[in-house]
Amino acid sequence: MSRLHSRSWVREAVRIIEADANRSADTHLHVFPLPAEWGIDLYLKDESVHPTGSLKHRLARSLFLYGLVNGQIGQNTVLVEASSGSTAVSEAYFARMLGLRFITVVPRSTSPEKIALIEFYGGECHYVDRAPDMYPEAERLASECNGHYLDQFTYAERATDWRGNNNIAESVYAQMQSERHPVPTWIVVGAGTGGTSATFGRYVRYKRHTTKIAVVDPENSSFFGAWETGALDYATGMPSRIEGIGRPRVEPSFVPGVIDEMLQVPDAGSLAAIRLLRERTGHWAGGSTGTNLFGAFTLISRMISEGQAGSVVTLLCDGGERYANTYYNDEWLAQKQIDIAPYREMYQEFLVSGKLAPVV
Ligand SMILES: Cc1ncc(COP(=O)(O)O)c(C=O)c1O
Repeated sequence: MSRLHSRSWVREAVRIIEADANRSADTHLHVFPLPAEWGIDLYLKDESVHPTGSLKHRLARSLFLYGLVNGQIGQNTVLVEASSGSTAVSEAYFARMLGLRFITVVPRSTSPEKIALIEFYGGECHYVDRAPDMYPEAERLASECNGHYLDQFTYAERATDWRGNNNIAESVYAQMQSERHPVPTWIVVGAGTGGTSATFGRYVRYKRHTTKIAVVDPENSSFFGAWETGALDYATGMPSRIEGIGRPRVEPSFVPGVIDEMLQVPDAGSLAAIRLLRERTGHWAGGSTGTNLFGAFTLISRMISEGQAGSVVTLLCDGGERYANTYYNDEWLAQKQIDIAPYREMYQEFLVSGKLAPVV
């Protein structure tokens, strides 16, 4: 594929993307209120306030810069991705900014809200019936139109600068500096591509922080089994019900070596937690944030039982408005036979006693 793109076009494209970053403020770090006597503080990094509404705004920016500096994106390049949603929304935004055509391969089951968002930013959706067909179809489409496959699952860990450069980890530590426990005991994130956990895991090791990284995994996902057994070919072949995280196979950007602990989280626990978040803080989040909160509460209850003070940081990954007709709709939950009531009780008890009694 020997083609040289005009250097002046690439220079201007990089300027436009950097200008977007320069116009954007950093995302907030919110406090989740816990009883003061616990001596533990919980924070949520609010990635829903990015211009395209999720943590994927950072990844999309990195993937575009990575493609531009590698000579893979030029003024006539058709961009292709395989995404279940958030990444495609952000990539469509950057493609439009550069005046490029953007096609994303999505499962037919993707929520109408996400499809509307991708098309709002000028993206085109190309449907496949089965989630595993997304990757080969994206590759076929890219070669058919002599385009560039951005391929978040492969390049997320490579395109993101783990040393700093205002990555999400550097931003968290800067915003924690004046807190009573500035170096978190735990950082809790989920995994879709695995890029976010790789960035945090590498950064804390590079900066020689004592912080440990915990990755939460929803039902049906392959990551926990792979991490626990060490078998990176571990595959469930099953889709996740928590949009954005959990994968039918282990993705190339998943870096198990930087993960100190993994926790499996029941979907009902994730979806009960985002209701609690809204009640206690007013913040409206997507399902993967609930998975993060379940993980954070589990580690906090352990810290309490071990008499350990400290801070825990997790992510508010995207906004809840995208899930008004699903996770926040009781009929949808009933249809999916997801009973969140026992977990809502569990969280009420936890926020009083600090004990997270397992739901049987
Ligand atoms: C809403 C949401 N949360 C969490 C994640 C996980 O992030 P990562 O892909 O960096 O593992 C994603 C990824 O798509 C997402 O869309």
